[in-house]
Amino acid sequence: MRRALVAGNWKMNGSRADINDLMQGLLTGLSEGVNGVDVVVCPPFPYLTQVTEAAHGSELIVGSQNVCEQSSGAYTGEVAASMLRDFNVRYVIVGHSERRQLYGETDQLIASKVGAVSEAGMIPVLCVGETREQRDRGAAEETVLAQIASVVAAHGVSAFADSVIAYEPVWAIGTGLSATSEQAQHMHAVIRQYLARHDAAVADAVQIVYGGSVTADNAEELFACPDIDGGLVGGASLNAQAFIRICKSVS
Ligand code: PGA
Repeated sequence: MRRALVAGNWKMNGSRADINDLMQGLLTGLSEGVNGVDVVVCPPFPYLTQVTEAAHGSELIVGSQNVCEQSSGAYTGEVAASMLRDFNVRYVIVGHSERRQLYGETDQLIASKVGAVSEAGMIPVLCVGETREQRDRGAAEETVLAQIASVVAAHGVSAFADSVIAYEPVWAIGTGLSATSEQAQHMHAVIRQYLARHDAAVADAVQIVYGGSVTADNAEELFACPDIDGGLVGGASLNAQAFIRICKSVS
C-alpha cells in the first residue's frame, strides 16, 4: 500500500507576513488531524528558514522548488542540494514545467538535478507532463514517457525507488482546467506500466501524484483513483483552509 503525499508548491509568492499567516493556518489545520498523508510545503528559497523553524516539532515537511545540478562552486545565483539538506529540506521539485518552459531546462539537466538531490539524501519530485498541443496530436504518452526515460537512462530505474513522480499536464497548470480523473488515472497507469517493464517492485512502490488545478472540490475524486497517490498543488496551496481540505481528501 503506497502512502499518500500532498505537496504545496508556493511558486514565487508570499512575504514574511503572508507566510507567517499561512504557516499558522496550516499548523492549526494539521494539528486538528490529517491522517495517512505526508504533507509537504515548498516555499521560495529565502523563506526556507522561516518555514523550517515554524514547522519544527510538527508533521509538516519542508520541500524546495528547484536545485542546482552542481555540488558547489562558481554558479552565481544557484542553490546546491547540500545547502537544502542543511535546512532540513526533504523533497525537491525537479523539472517543473515552468522551469522547462520559461528557463529552458532540458531532460538532460533535469536528470542531473534528480541525481544531485538523491545523492544529497533528499527525495526528488520529478515533474512530467505534456502540452495541450502534444495532447491534441496524440503525443501525450510519448512525451511523458520520454521525460521519464531520460532519468532512467541517466540513473537506472532504481532512481525511482527514492523519488516521487508528479504528472502535471501543462495545460492544466494554473488554468482552473484540471485533467479529469479518467485522464489523470490513465496517464498514471501508463507511467507505472512503463516502470514495471524495468522493475515491477519499483513501479508498484513509487508515489505518482497529480498536479494541475487541484482544488478542495476536485481532490477527492482525483485521489480516489488507484494510481493517483496524492497531489502537487500550486494556487490552492496558498490558502491554508483549501490546502488542508485537499490533504484531508486522501482517504
Ligand atoms: P496549480 O499548479 O495547482 O496552480 O495548477 C500546480 C503546479 O504547478 O504544481
